[in-house]
This record gives sequence, C-alpha cells and structure tokens, in this order.
Amino acid sequence: MSRTIAIANQKGGVGKTTTAANLGAALGEGGSTVLLVDLDPRADLSGYLGITLPAGATSVYDALFDESVDMSDVILERAWPGLEVAPATIDLAGAEMVMMDRPADERHVVVADALKSLQKRYDYVIMDSPPGLQLLSIAALVAANEVLVPQQCSFLALHGLRQLTDSVERIRAELNPALRICGIVMTMQDRRTVHNRQVIEMVREGFGELVMDTVIPTTIRVQEAAAAGEPITTYDPSGPAAVAYRELAKEVIARA
Ligand SMILES: Nc1ncnc2c1ncn2[C@@H]1O[C@H](COP(=O)(O)OP(=O)(O)OP(=O)(O)O)[C@@H](O)[C@H]1O
Ligand SMILES: [Mg+2]
Repeated sequence: MSRTIAIANQKGGVGKTTTAANLGAALGEGGSTVLLVDLDPRADLSGYLGITLPAGATSVYDALFDESVDMSDVILERAWPGLEVAPATIDLAGAEMVMMDRPADERHVVVADALKSLQKRYDYVIMDSPPGLQLLSIAALVAANEVLVPQQCSFLALHGLRQLTDSVERIRAELNPALRICGIVMTMQDRRTVHNRQVIEMVREGFGELVMDTVIPTTIRVQEAAAAGEPITTYDPSGPAAVAYRELAKEVIARA
C-alpha cells in the first residue's frame, strides 16, 4: 500500500529537506519506488537533488494550480534507483495568495487533489514542506497519511515540537482524520556533547514511542553531498549519515 508522508516541523533548519532527500534515497536504494514532492518555494529539495529550474518553468506550482497541468507532467526521473522528483520553483511563493482566494474547503485539499491519481504508482510519496505553518504546509498535512518530524538535537529547536504535535492533532480533528505521526527523528547529533544527549533524553521522555531509535549524526559530508546535488547514500555510502538514513528507512518501513 502506498504511504504519503509529510516531512514537517514548524521550526526552520532542523533537517526537513535533508531528511526528505536522504530518506527517499535510502528507501529507493532498498527497492521502493519513491516520489519526492518539493513544497517549499525556496526549492531546496529540488536543488539538493540537482534540479534547478528557473521561475516560470513547469513545476509543482502548475500541478497545484493550473488545471491543464497534471502532477505527472512535472515529475523528473533521477539517476538514483526508485527516486522521482516533483520539483518546485520560486513560483510556489505565490501559492499562499492563490490559496487565500479559494473557499476554505478547497484551499486545504490542493495538494491532496494533485497527488490523488499518482499515489498508487509509488510505494512512498514524501513531501518536503517549508518551516512555519503556512497554508501550503497545512495542505501537505491534509494530503498525508503520516507526518515524520525531524528534530534537531538542540534545546533551542525544541520549542516548535509541541506546537507541531498540537497542530497535527488539530488537523486530524478538523481536516484529515487519517493523519498520524509516523515518528520524530532526532537530527544533527554531535555525539561528543552532553547537551545533545540531554535533548534526546528530554524528547524521549516527552514523546516516548514516537521518537525513532535512529539518530542522524552531524557530519560535514551531509553538507558536501547537498552541495554536490547528491544523496548521502551515494555520496558517502558507508559513512555514518548514510548508515543512519538507511536505518531510518527500515524504521519507517516497520512503522507502516
Ligand atoms: N546530519 C547533518 N549533518 C550536517 N549538516 C546537516 C545535517 N542535516 C542537515 N544539515 C545541514 O543543516 C542545514 C539545515 O538542514 P535542512 O535544510 O535539511 O533543514 P530544513 O529543516 O529543511 O530547513 P528549512 O526549515 O530552512 O527548510 C543545511 O545546511 C543542511 O545541510
Ligand atoms: Mg527545508
């Protein structure tokens, strides 16, 4: 059965895009078919996977708002096994305005509607969302069955976590009863610091089983891979971050 997973956290810079790209690559490497959908106007996920489209190029924006464009028209294949990408451009910055003009019951389902015909084609549809809880992020959570929450191992980043789980509750109650939290994955761990360990302990105490066993370590190789436009699983296949993302993929599979 196909699973549609939104990667979300209201807090910025916690590893959402990195997790979307590398979890997608790890699932693809393991034999799953994966569609990565870029729902961030900064198009970081697209850029991460080596796709840089100019404003105006056919992209997710058109699939969401132009009735003559289907999501399947904008999908690009990638060289990595199992992985396809629906890329964004800066045009997506206009999404909020377009959505505001729509009746409330229509604006929340734009992503769900655009993905409907596609979900059966993939084992996993993974959406990267921007920070903050904008209409686009809400629409991603309405389209999803599950949300995976990357959480940076730092006290400062913890603030958004309870907000996010509260938002998920509200969206479940009002807009998408099928939505559940797949898990919280702790990212950018520096094993040398006590601070990091304490944060992980606090999150485990507060959120229990929701927290994934896998913790993604900090390594400069992740940033190098992003700069090279390549998943960590091929850029540094035996390095600690690639190993961790493969473990995360196994956990996600097990939490079906
Ligand atoms: N495991 C890691 N090791 C080292 N650097 C990392 C790791 N994960 C993410 N980063 C870096 O941290 C920064 C933020 O990561 P990322 O862009 O994935 O976060 P984000 O939550 O998508 O941010 P935004 O909210 O701005 O969309 C990036 O520069 C990324 O390369
Ligand atoms: Mg991002």
